[in-house]
Parts: sequence; structure tokens; C-alpha cells
Amino acid sequence: MDSLFSLGGQVAVVTGAGQGLGAEYARELGRRGAAVVVNDLPGNEKAAQVVEEIERGGGRAVVSGHDVSVREGARAIIADAAQQLGGVHILINNAGILRPSLFETMSAVDIDATIDVHLRSMFYVTQPAWDIMREQRYGRIVNVSSTNAFGVEGLINYSAAKAGVIGFTNSLALEAARSDVLVNAVMPNAITEMARASMETTPVPRLLENEQFVSSYASVAHCSEPARPAALVVYLASPDCSVTGEIYSQTGPRYSRVFLGVSHGWMSPSDAPPSAEEIARRFDEIRSVDEFFVPASMSEDFEAVVPRLSGA
Ligand SMILES: NC(=O)c1ccc[n+]([C@@H]2O[C@H](COP(=O)([O-])OP(=O)(O)OC[C@H]3O[C@@H](n4cnc5c(N)ncnc54)[C@H](O)[C@@H]3O)[C@@H](O)[C@H]2O)c1
Repeated sequence: MDSLFSLGGQVAVVTGAGQGLGAEYARELGRRGAAVVVNDLPGNEKAAQVVEEIERGGGRAVVSGHDVSVREGARAIIADAAQQLGGVHILINNAGILRPSLFETMSAVDIDATIDVHLRSMFYVTQPAWDIMREQRYGRIVNVSSTNAFGVEGLINYSAAKAGVIGFTNSLALEAARSDVLVNAVMPNAITEMARASMETTPVPRLLENEQFVSSYASVAHCSEPARPAALVVYLASPDCSVTGEIYSQTGPRYSRVFLGVSHGWMSPSDAPPSAEEIARRFDEIRSVDEFFVPASMSEDFEAVVPRLSGA
């Protein structure tokens, strides 16, 4: 067995850690010696059970019952970490909800609640943690996105928020570049209450009609324990990790890098804009992803055009 990454002396905050993946992240971080703030909604008794489990294993943990989608709640979580455990070195932005509906019937309440919990919370929780990490010039932030960001029917509020997490991660990673604060995102997949709800109690419209998905999902179900994404999250949260501004997915037993790429494309003449007809003629070339690159910033996308300017 691998020796444990040592996280002794570090404080980790895991949001939405009363159950499911967050609970697994909290237990794994605790097992490696981090003191853990186990956040979940106020009054969620499962968070106390996770704390007990960590303590039984010889670790240190506290419950912080606050709503991440409210700025004051988010501030209170980080204040708990600082006051009760002495700091913040690791932040896992994991809390989540599911409010499925087709776009035409999606209520304003379900749009707002989903964006608040999955995306606004990233700003609210990370800002106060960021102050501490910047000051100490060290931190590991792991933001939870989802492969639903690739697109899914019946969950557009969720997939839009999870795609927003990618932009949040990329930009914060750049702002953090002058310190050893690394910011990455994960797209986990595991069977949890949320995953079960998406198929059973509050099924995502049309999901179960997608026979290819249902059959593929069943085929990887035996590799869908929460421990699988937890291994990736703990690595990204450890001092051993050196990447930043990157996205990693875990689907069943497969771990992969996910990226926003730009196709090699077609260079139109520099002296005048092309017509729509010219775009149509060149569309296959523009659209082809046979050749592409992965800019690490908006700046790199511009820089890549310059050497290809005619007469430059
Ligand atoms: N399970 C999967 O396959 C999967 C796939 C992709 C992404 N994710 C993401 O992983 C994260 C965890 O998912 P899970 O499957 O463990 O879900 P889960 O429903 O089992 O757990 C989510 C936890 O977040 C808590 N929570 C919800 N709103 C909160 C709030 N406002 N403040 C604080 N806590 C709050 C819930 O009470 C719950 O304990 C979510 O962000 C989810 O979107 C999960």
C-alpha cells in the first residue's frame, strides 16, 4: 500500500460534507492528518457523524453548519476554520443540490437556487479563504464541477453552473499564480444520494429514456464508489500537486484531464473581414478538431494568433 500523503498541520474545509462525496473527501483528508471543517446546512446531523468518524480514526474535525449559498454563511465557515482549527490550507468547494426540469418548465426558484449553491457559493466561500491563503502564500483549492457541463437534458441550471465553475477555476488560478496557491476543478462520478435521486426520486427528465447512457452507467456502476473521486481530490489537495487551472474527471475507473481547446482553425486575410459566404466555404477547416491547442489563459489564445498573421 502507498504511504499516506501527510497533511499533518494543515486545515481543510470541505463544503457539503455531511454525506456523499464531501463526507468521503473529509474522511480521506482527516485520515491523512488534516484537521477538517465538515460543513453542511445548519442542523444537518450527518455532519456530526462525519466528525465523529474522523475523530474515531485519531483525527481532528469540527462541524460548521452554514449555508454556502449565503455570503454570511460562507464567511462563517472560514471563520470557524480560522478560529477553531487555526487556519485554512485546503478548500474543497463541493456542496451541491439537484433541481431537474426541462428548460421550458424550469422555475426561477430552481434556476436561482442551483446557481447560488453551485456557483455563487464558490465566490462566497473562496473569498475569505483566499485572504488567508494569499497571506500565507499556500493553498490548495479544488472546485467541484461535473461532466454535466458537457451538456445534459433536463438539468440546464446545473450544467450551466458547473460550466461556470470552470471559468471561476481558470481565472482564480491565474490570479493565484504569484503564490503557491493552486486552484483546480474536478468532474467526479460516483453513486451517492444525489446520483440516485437523479435516476429515482427526482429523475432528470429524459435521462432514463437514454438507453445508451443507462446501459453505460450500469456497466461502470461497480467502479462508482465515492473513494474513486476522493483519491483524485486528495491528490489535488496535497502538497505533491503542482498543477493549477486544470480540470480532471473521474468516470468509473477512468481518470482523465478535461480541457477547453481551440482548433487550429482557418486564418482569414488580415486586411479585411471575410464574408459569411467565405466562412461557409471554410467551415470544415474552422470546425475540424484534428489539430488543436489548449490555452492556459485568454492571453495565450491571442498570442497563438500572432505568429500566423500574414505579413506579421
Ligand atoms: N455524485 C456524482 O456522481 C456527482 C457527479 C458530478 C458532480 N457531483 C458534484 O459533487 C458534489 C457532491 O455531490 P454528492 O453526489 O455527494 O451529493 P449529495 O447530495 O450526496 O451531497 C451534497 C451535500 O451538500 C449539502 N448541501 C447542499 N446545499 C448546501 C448548502 N447550501 N450549504 C451547505 N451544504 C449544502 C447537502 O446537504 C449534502 O450533504 C456536488 O457539487 C455535485 O454536484 C457529483
